[in-house]
Amino acid sequence: MTDPKREHWDEVYRTKAADSVSWYQPTPGPSLRAIDELQLPVTASLIDVGGGASSLVDRLVERGWLDLTVLDIAAPALDIAKTRLEDETARIAWVIDDVTVWRPERQYDVWHDRAVFHFLTEPEQRLAYRRALQTGTSPASVVIIATFAPDGPERCSGLPVQRYDAAALVNEFSSVFALEREWREEHMTPRGGRQWFQWCIFRRR
Ligand SMILES: C[S@@+](CC[C@H](N)C(=O)[O-])C[C@H]1O[C@@H](n2cnc3c(N)ncnc32)[C@H](O)[C@@H]1O
Repeated sequence: MTDPKREHWDEVYRTKAADSVSWYQPTPGPSLRAIDELQLPVTASLIDVGGGASSLVDRLVERGWLDLTVLDIAAPALDIAKTRLEDETARIAWVIDDVTVWRPERQYDVWHDRAVFHFLTEPEQRLAYRRALQTGTSPASVVIIATFAPDGPERCSGLPVQRYDAAALVNEFSSVFALEREWREEHMTPRGGRQWFQWCIFRRR
């Protein structure tokens, strides 16, 4: 059965240069700073949920991280990252799946999501995401999540998004996760546009 969501994202990554999409970052600065401040050993496990073609995983490989997973609904996105990573590809677990239907088979110390949760505009999609998140984390796991802020764009990649401030994200996750830190970030798109993001770091109780 065809999934319009998957078709959309497959098409995006098949037809657009990875460094031309609005969410492209030459360096995933906010994510790296958030991960660095956790001061975790390189043996800690991290999953980049909806990681797409992001270079976050490249930078973590360079830092010596040993247990990395990238999940995305779009196989062409992961192909871009794999091509770039060449010999390092085998060191990373690649998962092609929709996070709202995926059933994690293990737990991760860090769950990272930049600009994926905000596409879940229906309550049942968010419930399914939280189910995966709870299965894929254990007590003391950290969640680093970034969504468009209330004054951020209403759409991304042609799709509607749900925008959040910190309180709204706390509302989504606080039954199981405690907020550790939150901040806003202005992202500059490759075409010079400005987009406000809301970032939160949560720790599982
Ligand atoms: C705006 S992009 C952000 C990509 C990456 N996180 C970054 O910061 O560069 C959103 C990503 O989420 C993926 N995605 C969208 N919906 C998804 C879902 N339900 N499950 C898994 N991945 C999804 C898309 O394929 C795309 O790679």
